Amino acid sequence: MRTLLLDRGQTAQAGRIIRGGGLVVFPTETVYGLGANAFDGEACLRIFAAKGRPADNPLIVHIASVSMLDGVAAETEDAARRLFAAFSPGPLTIILPRASHIPDAVTAGLPTVGVRIPSHPVAQALLDAAGVPVAAPSANLSGRPSPTDFETAVEQMSGRADAVLDGGACEHGLESTIVRVEAEKVRVLREGAVTREMIAEVLSAEGQEELPSEAMAAPAPGMRHAHYQPRARVVAVESEEVPEALARILEDPRESVGYIGFQAPRGAPVEKLAEIVRPADPEDYARRLYRAFYGFDAAGCTTVVAELPAPRGIGRALRDRLRRASGIG
Ligand code: TXA
Ligand code: MG
Repeated sequence: MRTLLLDRGQTAQAGRIIRGGGLVVFPTETVYGLGANAFDGEACLRIFAAKGRPADNPLIVHIASVSMLDGVAAETEDAARRLFAAFSPGPLTIILPRASHIPDAVTAGLPTVGVRIPSHPVAQALLDAAGVPVAAPSANLSGRPSPTDFETAVEQMSGRADAVLDGGACEHGLESTIVRVEAEKVRVLREGAVTREMIAEVLSAEGQEELPSEAMAAPAPGMRHAHYQPRARVVAVESEEVPEALARILEDPRESVGYIGFQAPRGAPVEKLAEIVRPADPEDYARRLYRAFYGFDAAGCTTVVAELPAPRGIGRALRDRLRRASGIG
């Protein structure tokens, strides 16, 4: 398949491709998505083929605004409406009872559907042009990190999608926060840029009970599958363990080691590090993580040492992805 490369001024053409049953890779503020008309079951099935995605992993449906909610969800509880009001458009996905005309291909047969209102202006323009909700997982081959820039999205989906829309580098760099709202109870299924602290603040302002703080009770189905990792082995360690981990791994001459972390790498012989990525703060870390993963692979790294950020704010989502990347799950 020939893949058209479109710039941000060509969203009308991208919208026509979606309406015609095609697949379009598009930028969002989190990561690039691989989109199809969410009302077209056959088009959505092609997403699974293009990615090599397991059929039991449901897709998120993207809409332009809350006014389109009734077209995709059977009902929207108050807590969900408040969360959309506080954080949409933005990096938040809410799991809701599905509308009956959402095809099984989108929900993997579940009675629920994940709904997200992206803020990226190119995503918004595409949704407007398409005039239909757009089902989209991240635009990577299954098991690879999500693409967070145009070049990686093209590399991943060239020959597999009808078009790739250029929207530059993604603002957040990690996938959206996913919450489930059921009987007005809110649970976080995947951590993201809308943090637990932010959600708890909205709910408590409304007199809601506390957000459960335990580890994810029921992670999103897709999180069972291998995810978010580069080909290199990832060793994710707390800040104080970084020097010792680097020293230990660099001792082995067969290793080609990449490092990502806030602190300057210490632990002899750090001059042998193949790649070094030094984010300025947790937000910058999130924005650069997946691009760094692809870069470590391109440089032929065998091992990546990653400093774990503190478990606050976006740091929780980073710790979650780094733990999964290192196979600790
Ligand atoms: O930021 C994002 O969410 C990006 C952009 C493109 O919007 N999308 C994304 O999609 O990360 P994907 O498919 O890579 O991850 C979606 C996750 C999967 O773990 C899936 O299992 C979960 O959402 N999910 C989708 N529908 C669900 C449902 N009805 N119930 C529970 N989890 C669901
Ligand atoms: Mg994904």
